[in-house]
Amino acid sequence: MAGAESGDGGALRGHVVLFPLPFQGHLSPMLQLAGALHARGLASTVLHTAYNAPDAAAHPEFAFVAVPSGDAVSAALAEAPKDGIAKIMALNAAIEASGCARDALASLMVSESEGDERRQRLQRPACLVIDAALPAAQKAAAEVGLPTIVLHTGSAAAFRLFRSYAMLREKGYLPAKESELDRPVIEMPPLRVSDLFDPSKYVNEEMGNKILALSTETTTNSSGAVVNTFEALETPELHSVRDELGADIPVFAIGPLHKLTNNNSDRSSLLEQDRSCIEWLDTKEPGSVLYVSFGSVVMVNQDDFREVAWGLANTEMPFLWVVRHGLVAGNSGKPVLPDRFMEAVKGRCHLVDWAPQAEVLAHPAVGGFWTHNGWNSTLESIYEGVPMLSRPIFGDQPITARYVQETWQIGFMVEGKLERGKIEEAIRRLMEGEDGVAVQERADQLKRKILTCLEDGGSTQQAIDKLVGHMLSL
Ligand code: UDX
Repeated sequence: MAGAESGDGGALRGHVVLFPLPFQGHLSPMLQLAGALHARGLASTVLHTAYNAPDAAAHPEFAFVAVPSGDAVSAALAEAPKDGIAKIMALNAAIEASGCARDALASLMVSESEGDERRQRLQRPACLVIDAALPAAQKAAAEVGLPTIVLHTGSAAAFRLFRSYAMLREKGYLPAKESELDRPVIEMPPLRVSDLFDPSKYVNEEMGNKILALSTETTTNSSGAVVNTFEALETPELHSVRDELGADIPVFAIGPLHKLTNNNSDRSSLLEQDRSCIEWLDTKEPGSVLYVSFGSVVMVNQDDFREVAWGLANTEMPFLWVVRHGLVAGNSGKPVLPDRFMEAVKGRCHLVDWAPQAEVLAHPAVGGFWTHNGWNSTLESIYEGVPMLSRPIFGDQPITARYVQETWQIGFMVEGKLERGKIEEAIRRLMEGEDGVAVQERADQLKRKILTCLEDGGSTQQAIDKLVGHMLSL
């Protein structure tokens, strides 16, 4: 239940409804945005599916409403193939077919004189905030006369790129030719052709094209867009999307969302976090540990998993590795480690199914992060000034990895076929070499910029004020 007071104890000024995509990397930033809006005096109601439902008890400041026919939606999601794209498409189709989002929104649209006491206190919502990949929720909002604001949970660079596919095709970057993978995309430095998501290489090309179009469609039909980034990090990219969208669709750079309230990813985690790793980190020297995690959805093949394991083992450095259930393709359970691996790493390795990642990255013992460059992980790492080893796998991750290496120069990519010798060399470069010292210095500089944007009067704080004003004016 949304309280009658804002985060700072003042009276609530209005009410917003938010509908996240039910996947970790999308749910956390939406709940974090809800927290930031609530702290500015907006009651926040979170619509959600039964599938991957958020933990309402961890967020007593919000109201939670499960969409009716949630079972149909959950069944569609459970039946869809494992990959994220198929699930997003199935979710949109099920929401549209069942009318569940429209029904849930209609029940919230009562005027202040109608309905029960709870609704009177919540007021009629000013808008619906949707994930950029949820056009079905946007259509539902339009049916009940509610404007939408779109949350982009990826970078501004990805936002811009996904709007530019017509140009990429026209200029011959796509479909990508094997011989041109290193070709720079001169319109969007520092990207190369190999960083682009190419629908023609995806198992279902039609679906690949559709997923690309989702965020462009939802943004075009919205009353504004929020991007989880900060002005100093992506100045040209934000400039370019603002130029294109014009004044009718204002773009608010509000990030890093996980530091706006005490609502970090640890509070919105869908999996139980194993805190034993914090005690283990407490026993390690400052900056000595490599943290390794590939986020909540990506899978690696069995060969790559084995090479990662031996690459880590051969460095003889301490490391903390998130070995999530389902990490290895073809096995939805706990990944099987290579024979003799545990003996080889005894005393200097800690494995967990799932970590309290924000806390891990903030720990002084962590000196590097081997990541798939999901956008949340990247922002969490940037905030803590932890340099990265990047092994992107899918979607927006290659874009982010390229920026980490080329634009911000706060890490290195591990490219090509994964092989233990190459991995060992890359880890040593990050954790021990001169290049590692240089990326650490730049990571420290970027950390100072992020702190400035979060200060009172900083760009992110100003953007939240503007967003709230904009929402209340709709
Ligand atoms: C996905 C996409 O991969 C990503 O590129 C997109 O921008 C958002 O959705 P995911 O792959 O899960 O997300 O990666 P990421 O964006 O990094 O989000 C993972 C979240 O899980 C982070 O907030 C991280 O702190 C959290 N996490 C990860 C944990 O809490 N514990 C862990 O052990 C690992």
